[in-house]
Amino acid sequence: MFKIGMIGAGFVAGFHTRALQSVRGAQFAAVCAPKGAPELAKTAREAGLGDPRVCETVTELCSVVDIACIFAPNPARVEIMREIAKACENGAKLKGIICEKPLARNLKEADILARMARALRVPNAYFENQLHMPSVTQARRQLAAVEEAMGPVHLARSAEEHGGPHESWFWDPTTQGGGVCCDMGCHSIAVGMYMLTPAGKPPDHLTPVSVTANMALLKWGKEPWISRLAERGVDYSKTPAEDYSNVTIEFKDGDSGIRGVAQATNSWMYDAPGLRLLMEAFGPGYSYSVDSLSSPAGLFISDAAAAAVADAELALEKAQASRGSLILQPNEADLYGYVAEWRDALAAFKKGRDAMLNFEYGRLVTMLVMAAYMAHETRRTINLTDAAVLEKLETYVPLIQQGKGQRVLFR
Ligand SMILES: NC(=O)c1ccc[n+]([C@@H]2O[C@H](COP(=O)([O-])OP(=O)(O)OC[C@H]3O[C@@H](n4cnc5c(N)ncnc54)[C@H](O)[C@@H]3O)[C@@H](O)[C@H]2O)c1
Repeated sequence: MFKIGMIGAGFVAGFHTRALQSVRGAQFAAVCAPKGAPELAKTAREAGLGDPRVCETVTELCSVVDIACIFAPNPARVEIMREIAKACENGAKLKGIICEKPLARNLKEADILARMARALRVPNAYFENQLHMPSVTQARRQLAAVEEAMGPVHLARSAEEHGGPHESWFWDPTTQGGGVCCDMGCHSIAVGMYMLTPAGKPPDHLTPVSVTANMALLKWGKEPWISRLAERGVDYSKTPAEDYSNVTIEFKDGDSGIRGVAQATNSWMYDAPGLRLLMEAFGPGYSYSVDSLSSPAGLFISDAAAAAVADAELALEKAQASRGSLILQPNEADLYGYVAEWRDALAAFKKGRDAMLNFEYGRLVTMLVMAAYMAHETRRTINLTDAAVLEKLETYVPLIQQGKGQRVLFR
């Protein structure tokens, strides 16, 4: 039985707590966060997941768990990883380290995390739930023989969209790392690359060839939205971020020479029932698609009854309405792939190995996200087969992340 310790007790830690109810061999043993730790520990106790100790420091948490999970905001990643490393040097016996997406805000940070994880020789997992979505993995399994006969997927389209993040730090590009491309583009780029990857090959099998991108601030730079952000302490007149991002990446299979294209579209202006994940994969003579808003379940709440609604998000992540005909997803933790990513990580850690996706893979996704920002900034196609470009990306920090988004975003 692995003892799990969560560093961070906010939105995603709550989701993982729901996912753990469907996972064997794990006990929620500790939690550490400036906000929300006692409440999350209570939820875990009530769900029968264990009796998590509320820890004051990461060092304390590492001394009582087997697996340390970094579920804190992006700007805290490097410092938390340093604390984990120090705890290990001082005798903590970790059997796994998990980090939520995005691994980092730029390649410099990603390198630090990947290098530290390698040096510690502790198995690690990069949590990118969308590659574990049962609808995606089942479609791939079902189509494996077709793919073998006809050839791999050559066009992958992926999108993640909702009406905007729940906490202010996500909106501030200097804190989060950018706008929607850093926050959700990492998901859609990763799952797009995965849909193009032939069955049986590792998730980093394909070679990225080139990247083009368009980003814009379409909604949240306008009134009344810009003022609503200002009320939350975020000033998009001075430090804007993109709320729309469209990235196209060309990949090449080094074994077969076959090329494929992934299109990743993301926005924070999806004024629709709630979060939507969309995937479409087209191979020669076959295809599959996923739409997370298609559900067998629904709700109706009349105006007369709306006053009694407890929490619209209980039905759907980032729900935007609490009356009328509403979509209900009965098991979002399973639908989005959280349960499967835990099962994969725990099975790998049991064997002393990295999960299907590790920090090196997270670094690769960070590189693709950085190339997208560079493509938008320079209005050029980024050639990822050019060693000089790859070297430039190593230290590149996007203007939007630097707080200079006015130069490259229109409002
Ligand atoms: N896989 C997904 O779809 C998904 C969804 C949401 C968030 N995330 C990722 O999870 C991470 C956390 O996001 P969230 O939505 O839970 O954020 P949140 O703001 O809801 O919660 C953050 C939590 O971390 C704590 N925290 C802040 N600084 C800390 C520090 N230095 N050390 C320890 N804890 C600290 C906060 O007190 C809070 O409990 C982000 O990196 C985000 O990108 C992933």
